[in-house]
Parts: sequence; structure tokens; C-alpha cells
Amino acid sequence: MNMLNVALPKGRLGEKAYAMLERAGFPCPSIKEPNRKLIFENEAAGVRYFWVKPSDVAIYVERGAADLGIVGKDILLEQEPDVYELLDLGMGKCRMAVAARRGFRDDRRRTLIVATKFTNIASRYYASLGRDIDIIHLNGSIELAPILGLSDVIVDIVETGATLRENDLAVLETIVPISARLIANKASFVFYKARIEELTRALAKEATA
Ligand code: PRP
Repeated sequence: MNMLNVALPKGRLGEKAYAMLERAGFPCPSIKEPNRKLIFENEAAGVRYFWVKPSDVAIYVERGAADLGIVGKDILLEQEPDVYELLDLGMGKCRMAVAARRGFRDDRRRTLIVATKFTNIASRYYASLGRDIDIIHLNGSIELAPILGLSDVIVDIVETGATLRENDLAVLETIVPISARLIANKASFVFYKARIEELTRALAKEATA
């Protein structure tokens, strides 16, 4: 029997996602061994897991290198990959928000300068408001941009709000709530329908538990 290939996002979210898969009946104990391996399989459970960069999960799934993947809704909204979104795992909860220096007031006569990793989400959001913006794409430490005058605002993920608070920034608007999702390659979903639905059902029980 072919194993289902599952792309997990490297990091804390991925570890929580794996724990959920384990509880759902798809364990792969070797994944917990302290080594630098990237691929782990459990033939008996019919699953092969691999760790990829969180922002690469959807690419693996869209191209069929993975049948399934766990990915943040932020990545799905940003990349709009051609995949099926099967389940909200109810974890990795945070929100996509606009933030600025405390006390910032938007002057709508000026073009707003927005720094973000999520240029598509930010562009769509401001287009929906009819607001002219200049986008500066950054790869990390986005919070620095308004502090150093690189941008007026940022569009970024806010979880606890600690990063903003500790840098004298504040949320101006929430754009969209975010959580982790189970996604499937479209062809795999047809080909392995029964097994994917079984895994999805088992995970759904854990997601609401
Ligand atoms: C995200 C985001 C913020 C931080 C928000 O960064 O970019 O910096 O988390 O979390 P908080 O509200 O709980 O402080 P992440 O740690 O994902 O890494 P990144 O810098 O690579 O985006």
C-alpha cells in the first residue's frame, strides 16, 4: 500500500500538529528521535511525514510531492495555492492585523506605506478599502519598519500581542483570524479519497476535543 505523504511545518506548530496526528491514530514514533532527518515513515499506519519550511508546505501539496499538509491560513491566503482545504485544526490561532506606532493617525490624503511579509493579503485588504498604498516586502522583524520610519504601518501576524507591546506598537485593525488547516493535493484527494477522509475525520475529532 502506498503511504500518504504528509508535509508538516517545521517548528512549534508542526510539533503540535504531529501530536494531533499521533492522537488521531497516525503515529510515527521515529519522528521524536533527536536527529536532523527530514523524512519519517510508519508503514503500518500508512503515513510518511516530512518537515518543510512552513511557507513551503502549500507548494509541496499543490505539486503533489505531498498528498496532505498542515499549513497556516495566513499562508493559504497569501499564496492562494490550488489545493483542497479539508479541515480547520483549531490550533495555531492568531490573527492577521494592521499595526502601527501607538498614536499613529492615518492621513488619507497620503499614500500609506505598508511593510509586510504578506504582500498579497495586504494589497487585497487595502484595495477592498480603496486605499492607495506602497508595499515594502520584508522577510522578518517586520515590527522594526514603523519604528525606524521605513513604513507607516505593518501587516503581520499577532498572537499574544507581546511583540507589538514590547515595541510600542498597537493593532489598528484586524484583517482576518488565522488558524492551522489540513490541505490536500487535488489529485491525491480523488485517488486516496477513503484514506484521506478517514484521516480527516479522525483529526476532526481531535480538533474539537
Ligand atoms: C510572528 C509575527 C510576530 C510575532 C507575533 O513572528 O511576525 O513577530 O509572531 O507574536 P506575538 O503577538 O505572540 O508576539 P514569528 O515568530 O512567526 O516569526 P517571523 O519573525 O519569522 O515571522
